Amino acid sequence: MNEKTHFGFKEVDVNKKAEHVGDVFHSVAEEYDLMNDAMSFGMHRLWKKMLIELSELSEGSMALDIASGTADIPRLINKKFKSVSMHVTDINASMLALGKERAINENFFHNCNFALASGESLPYQDQTFDLVTVGFGLRNFTDKEKGLKEMKRVLKPDGVLLILEFSKPTNSFFSKVYDWYSFNIIPKLGSFLANDSKSYQYLAESIRMHPDQETLKNMVLDAGFDDCKFYNLVNGVVAIHQAK
Ligand SMILES: C[S@@+](CC[C@H](N)C(=O)[O-])C[C@H]1O[C@@H](n2cnc3c(N)ncnc32)[C@H](O)[C@@H]1O
Repeated sequence: MNEKTHFGFKEVDVNKKAEHVGDVFHSVAEEYDLMNDAMSFGMHRLWKKMLIELSELSEGSMALDIASGTADIPRLINKKFKSVSMHVTDINASMLALGKERAINENFFHNCNFALASGESLPYQDQTFDLVTVGFGLRNFTDKEKGLKEMKRVLKPDGVLLILEFSKPTNSFFSKVYDWYSFNIIPKLGSFLANDSKSYQYLAESIRMHPDQETLKNMVLDAGFDDCKFYNLVNGVVAIHQAK
């Protein structure tokens, strides 16, 4: 029998998950930024700014953004560090194309190299980057452990990994309100703004299936990092893991 993994609350064959995730992001690509603002009340912008604050980057260094989507993170890196060279990757051609378009329109294309690539198999040599970022992407990987090992492999020995991802609220009352919002409002917003409730149902489910803060921290350490700390944002709805 084929090995199984989860796709939201569903069980799928391991070798089919990337295809299912691909369908979701092809479908939501055009309305992706609008939906991000609507679902998070614009807060994702602030979370990404916080991520850059933790980057420990300096001018002239090399950064890799995995699962980059519409290139929000490279855009912010470029705003703060004009001479950081960035590699911008995503597994999905529709999302990567939007990222490229944005880099051209918003004038940071000259500092970027784009590549269609899975975060689970990165087309870079060992010890290439000073910073690796992955924003709201790890949740969708078929093999997160493999992805984390790849991130460690391509980082320089003193490089920094930053993972921005949905996580687990620390307060139980807040957690119930958040559950209600995720399963009742988000799919409706998806239907109204992107004409796609199914993909946003997957979003809510995939968040629930993602490891909590401590579990992810242990996975990061198991992947070979010496140190990992996390920062809870909005009561742990989102967390930033910083590892070295
Ligand atoms: C929710 S979007 C996040 C985009 C952007 N990083 C942000 O924070 O707005 C998730 C992205 O992960 C990409 N993705 C999913 N699985 C991936 C994988 N295994 N490797 C690389 N990218 C992946 C999707 O194509 C999608 O663009």
